[in-house]
Amino acid sequence: MGCTVVVDGFFGDTGKGKIVSYLAIADDVAVCARAGVGPNAGHTVVKDDRVYKLRMVPCGFVNPKTLLLIGPGVLVNPDIVLKEVKETGTDKRFGLDPQCAVIEPKHIELDQSDANLKNVVKTTGTGTGPCNADRVMRVAKMAREIASLKKYLTDVPAVVNGALDDDKNVLIEGTQGTFISLYHGQYPYVTSKDICASAACSDVGVGPTRVDEVVLVCKAYVTRVGAGDLEGEIGPEEAKRRGWDEYGTVTGRQRRAAPFNYSLAKRAAMINGATQLAITKLDVLFPECKGSNSYDDLGVEARAFINRIEEQVCLPVTLIGTGPNYNEIIDRR
Ligand code: IMP
Ligand code: MG
Repeated sequence: MGCTVVVDGFFGDTGKGKIVSYLAIADDVAVCARAGVGPNAGHTVVKDDRVYKLRMVPCGFVNPKTLLLIGPGVLVNPDIVLKEVKETGTDKRFGLDPQCAVIEPKHIELDQSDANLKNVVKTTGTGTGPCNADRVMRVAKMAREIASLKKYLTDVPAVVNGALDDDKNVLIEGTQGTFISLYHGQYPYVTSKDICASAACSDVGVGPTRVDEVVLVCKAYVTRVGAGDLEGEIGPEEAKRRGWDEYGTVTGRQRRAAPFNYSLAKRAAMINGATQLAITKLDVLFPECKGSNSYDDLGVEARAFINRIEEQVCLPVTLIGTGPNYNEIIDRR
């Protein structure tokens, strides 16, 4: 697999955590590097009946041999880093770049009190936007200045590129989603930077010529938290009836929901240069496929849905999520 970038084709929360954790184990990944904005993203991993909701530590932690890194483009909250390293027991194989900018209490206060951020954009309130603003103003603190992070400081671009030089498998874990990108989403209802595949590579210090695969993760239906358009949106009650009601990992807010959007998936494939698609939560639309590991087990309607996605997006659907556990997946690669 070489260098694989995993990114989200919709508005975040498509199940990247599950896909990244599966790939880390299935492909014997040497390095899993987290990209994206920062702790505004919550990635969920389910393994051995335990549910992990990770906002800083990369989801590849489920493979005990995988080195876990956070690239310099990512904002870090030291309290959350320390808590998750402890919770995942990854102290010996976790590192973050000295150039990660640090979220401070003042950033969180501003994110939660600024009228535009709170009421118009409806941010996660985790301080990421104000911290990125300080970073651009060249006044943000850097991870290298924080005593509690000293032991984790790692030259992330050097380690990631070194692993690729040695022909090892590297996973770049994107966060958020294509349509909440600062550049490619519906401004101002967006996060505070670009989070598409090329930005994810930049976040960890990997150049475009080194990438082998871009996996675009789309859910079998679309959800969005915060403000902004959502084509075909169904109400919260209808979402509950269909089993599409979800609640934010970071905020606890009920996510807004809509049916699968083929044109958004196609546009996301273009912007991210996707080479393959992962479709998650197929079991929510077609309960009979719950837990399946075989494409042949899928019913006629579920297969027709996958075929239609492949036709419309012009990419193979290589991974299909059939349940929350990391190994509830159909791998067609
Ligand atoms: P911020 O990133 O906290 O500034 O929030 C800006 C917008 O992006 C809000 O609509 C958030 O709900 C949304 N957002 C940020 N991160 C995520 C994510 O990881 N998943 C889903 N939505 C997100
Ligand atoms: Mg999430």
